[in-house]
Amino acid sequence: MRKRYLLMYILPILLVAGCGGGNKSETSGTTTEQKAQQTATVEQTQATAQGEQVSEFGVGPIQEPLNLPETIDEALAKKGEELFDKKGCTACHELDNRKVGPPLRDVVNQRPPEWIMNMIINPEEMILKDPVAKKLLEEYGVPMTNQNVSKDEARAILEFLRKAAKEKKN
Ligand code: HEC
Repeated sequence: MRKRYLLMYILPILLVAGCGGGNKSETSGTTTEQKAQQTATVEQTQATAQGEQVSEFGVGPIQEPLNLPETIDEALAKKGEELFDKKGCTACHELDNRKVGPPLRDVVNQRPPEWIMNMIINPEEMILKDPVAKKLLEEYGVPMTNQNVSKDEARAILEFLRKAAKEKKN
């Protein structure tokens, strides 16, 4: 009996230790930093593929806080509204109703703006690696397609969505 209890406690510890070693891969310690840098991307990919270590901003080019001002840039929002149509978002999204994808009126109150931009720029990777996007895919059953939106264009669309969220409150 005592041996069994011992196993129950020690086995998980061994397993955890084993995984940790596997991630760091090098044991010599001489070029640890260099190697770590080289393998960082691979490890990150592996980690994110398991649904771990994805920042709250999601996966994509926007990893720095945007620090947006409260006020809406009206000109930018107008450009975003045009892009929302031109880039084909309207085929799958409406502001107030569920279509192929979720309604987007309130999305700026539900997700960080950085996450929204990454979702617009990099949807294929988001739905594979970001836990929130993965859940959405489960719910909607259709993968959002990449509409070739640049960072600047995504920023404009974000402004349009920020404006839309404010307009509802009035
Ligand atoms: C082919 C249909 C389709 C197109 C085109 C599309 N989307 Fe999506 N979108 C979806 C679906 C479906 C989801 C939910 C996640 C999933 O299933 O991939 C989604 C999710 C989103 C989300 C996250 C919503 C939430 O509740 O968090 C945002 C933001 C978004 N889309 C914006 C856009 C924008 C902006 C465009 C245009 C550049 C666009 N989408 C084009 C189908 C589409």
